[in-house]
Amino acid sequence: MNSLIVQKQKYWEINSEDKVNFQILFTHSILSQFKFVENLSETNRVFLLIDENIWKIYKNQFETLINNSIKEFHIKKVKPDEENKTVDSSIEIIRFLDDKSLRRKSEPVIAIGGGVILDIASFAASIYRRGVPIIKIPTNLLAIVDACVGVKTGVNLGIKRNRIGTYYPPQKVLIDKSFLKTCPQRHITNGLGEIFKIALIKSSSLFKQLEAYTETVGIEEKLCIGALASKIINDSISLMLEELEPNLWEKNLQRCVDFGHSFSPYIELKNINELLHGEAVTLDCLFSTCLAFNLNFINKNKLLRIYRLANSLGLPIFHRDFTNKKLIEKSLNETKAHRNGNLNLPIPSDIGEYIFVNQLSDEIIDKTIDCYKLIKEEL
Ligand SMILES: NC(=O)c1ccc[n+]([C@@H]2O[C@H](COP(=O)([O-])OP(=O)(O)OC[C@H]3O[C@@H](n4cnc5c(N)ncnc54)[C@H](O)[C@@H]3O)[C@@H](O)[C@H]2O)c1
Repeated sequence: MNSLIVQKQKYWEINSEDKVNFQILFTHSILSQFKFVENLSETNRVFLLIDENIWKIYKNQFETLINNSIKEFHIKKVKPDEENKTVDSSIEIIRFLDDKSLRRKSEPVIAIGGGVILDIASFAASIYRRGVPIIKIPTNLLAIVDACVGVKTGVNLGIKRNRIGTYYPPQKVLIDKSFLKTCPQRHITNGLGEIFKIALIKSSSLFKQLEAYTETVGIEEKLCIGALASKIINDSISLMLEELEPNLWEKNLQRCVDFGHSFSPYIELKNINELLHGEAVTLDCLFSTCLAFNLNFINKNKLLRIYRLANSLGLPIFHRDFTNKKLIEKSLNETKAHRNGNLNLPIPSDIGEYIFVNQLSDEIIDKTIDCYKLIKEEL
């Protein structure tokens, strides 16, 4: 009788929905508002994972915050190094949380730092007890306009970038632009690389704002003050979200935000001590633009205009590895596997517009490398 019932039941279909809802908010001088920070936790304990450098720079403020608080602070300092972005670092964080028996829902982990800390911490939060809440507080420009915006977490596997990771929405993201005041110029420029990317592929208006910014403000002036700087940061986050929100789990692997991430991932980690993420992304954007030029999607004037903007933002415009065909092919193979067998290469079809390319001949790669080698001489 029982076996008959089992035979009739051919399959179970599970349908369930988990709605994603979190806010990205601007705050001001967060470290001087200790009530605000301590109230992020519902219990009398606060768990902070802090970028080592941020701890050093803001030590006095953190100490004042802790000393004036009635809550108990548990702090772990994390090394902000791409080489430290490993499963081991996430496990170390998990041990720290577990030793203190972190409550599963009411004691969110608060991660403060650049993209590396946010990625390691959110990966740890996503796998510890199958997920504990995390609040992200980005402190440099790249983390503000990019690393804190979506739901991706990740750590590296050797020189394979973000090869291990999860999709895990944070409970909240708090952006305090005043952190940018202490951010070294190279890391401001690094963040400008991601803004340059989204402008070039998605918004001629943001591209023009960046041009105006380099003409009027100059790159020495850090991107934390002034109306134009604020508008650039806001627009950049909005444009990013416009792409991420409808495709949070990356069901669709044709993503224009992958612009700048097709040729660079392998080259970036190969040159780990030389290239920052936003710099590698910029180099990839420029190489992809040379490709667009050779495929007749954009003309020479626009190609030069794009190069001039990258140059005046202080971004690198040339790296020898992008002239090495073997490395380009290696990157493309990795990219293809990552995009499930398709290249899905986003390239500009104009400033602020894009198309996807799925096939590249040997000849077009050679021509693109030649163009990439020579174009910088014409600026
Ligand atoms: N999850 C995502 O969606 C996503 C998106 C983009 C990038 N990322 C990841 O982000 C990482 C790169 O991030 P990054 O460039 O921020 O690297 P990072 O975290 O190493 O930070 C770079 C440097 O900036 C310093 N810093 C940060 N804020 C500062 C401040 N206010 N004052 C002084 N110094 C400050 C850090 O201490 C560090 O030395 C990469 O691993 C990349 O994969 C993730």
